[in-house]
Amino acid sequence: MSEGLVTVSYIAATILFILTLGGLSNQETARRGNIFGIIGMTIAILATIFGPRVDGALSYILIVLMMGIGGAIGVTLARKVEMTQMPELVAILHSLVGLAAVLVGYVNFMDTTITFPTHVEKVIHEIEIYVGILIGAITFSGSIIAFGKLSGKIGGNPLLLPARHWLNLGLLLITIWLGSWFISAAEAGSAVAFIPLMLMTIIALAFGVHMVMAIGGADMPVVVSMLNSYSGWAASATGFMLSNDLLIVVGALVGSSGAILSYIMCRAMNRNFISVIAGGFGTTTGGGSSSDEEQGEVVAIETEEVAALLSDAKEVMIIPGYGMAVAQAQHTVNEITKVLRDKKVNVRFGIHPVAGRMPGHMNVLLAEAKVPYDIVFEMEEINEDFPDVDVSVIIGANDIVNPSALDDPNSPIAGMPVLECWKGNTTIVLKRGMATGYAGVQNPLFFKENTRMYFGDAKESLDAVLKALQS
Ligand code: TAP
Repeated sequence: MSEGLVTVSYIAATILFILTLGGLSNQETARRGNIFGIIGMTIAILATIFGPRVDGALSYILIVLMMGIGGAIGVTLARKVEMTQMPELVAILHSLVGLAAVLVGYVNFMDTTITFPTHVEKVIHEIEIYVGILIGAITFSGSIIAFGKLSGKIGGNPLLLPARHWLNLGLLLITIWLGSWFISAAEAGSAVAFIPLMLMTIIALAFGVHMVMAIGGADMPVVVSMLNSYSGWAASATGFMLSNDLLIVVGALVGSSGAILSYIMCRAMNRNFISVIAGGFGTTTGGGSSSDEEQGEVVAIETEEVAALLSDAKEVMIIPGYGMAVAQAQHTVNEITKVLRDKKVNVRFGIHPVAGRMPGHMNVLLAEAKVPYDIVFEMEEINEDFPDVDVSVIIGANDIVNPSALDDPNSPIAGMPVLECWKGNTTIVLKRGMATGYAGVQNPLFFKENTRMYFGDAKESLDAVLKALQS
């Protein structure tokens, strides 16, 4: 394949990736977006493999071998992973992008066959290597810690080292100084350049760990999207090192869309992006309603009463959360919705932007169960409607319906907008016990007068309600 044909293929792939992002922004077009992505990636891989840069039988053997190993691991993981483990899987995959950027950086630095027409281009290449390894190492270690936190292997509480902001500033200054050392040593062609490069890699790895460890449970959504963005910039940096235009563009697309998502997440949680990155949010201060102590009596409810409340209602709001994903209750939710709509009950869904464990988690589950899109609403669209709602059904959600976010300034989730279901007539909460949610905060909603607790696994409880509604 000639260089010209490769360029044309890369342009086609780039256009397809842009169409992919456009498609993924909307549920109705998401499937089409995915197909564009698959075609774009196939074109990109084929053009790269059959392009003029891959030469000799050994290269092809290595490519086939590596794709076979990588593909086999990918397929095995994808088949095994539960829907609830998707965020962890995404986090660990981000770490691989970071690792790839680090390895490509080192290999590029050691490659003595690369020649540069001008001195300036050589310096630019060295800067690319340095920055690429820096971003890659932060992404790598940060994503591993995020994986640990999302899978519960590392506790959700933020690790707050004393003077951590000064520590971060110090690390940044040392990194800049090491960078200038690296460039001047590399200029002189000295192998000493490895020393600043390795020191910087160690600092970047430590910084990635420190950055994510300092972020509290409730702010993890921002970290997930931020690491997504970093992995894009790491790929882009790899593209610069390899002089691969497609990788630069695709990395920039992922990097900027991840950055936009981080901004949206911050807005959804009423957080300042810089403050989240600096860490410390999500610190449990104790006292007030943010403590783990229960605050009064809860009123439990039985299946028949839930079914009766739902059939008698005119307006029902369903609020799904992480527990619906754990219980895999979305199909039963859809069946109940159908039955109620047949009874002329107006059923709507209220989706909090950080419900579940990954962006769009609830939308994906509801779409899988074929819940009609036109009854699924974002939080801002329906939050004012709760006073007119007869019954709100909270399915395995906790933090996203916690009133202390609004009225307890000591709460770790203080300031985060929540679905104000308690303003409705009756709230039914489905969960297994009185455990707290991801942020580890007790929820005063459960103790309100108009709240009824329907204890049990969400799928089993909803199956029973469906049966009662049908009989
Ligand atoms: P959570 O606050 O985590 O609450 C989920 C609740 O579901 C738990 O209290 C649990 O109580 C219940 N539950 C678990 N399994 C269940 C089952 N099988 N049946 C019934 N109930 C079950 O979830 P949320 O309200 O969706 O809030 C999301 C939280 O995750 C936020 O704090 C958010 O910041 C954080 N987070 C979000 C993301 C993204 S990007 N969305 C990423 C990381 C973290 P029991 O154990 O008592 O049943």
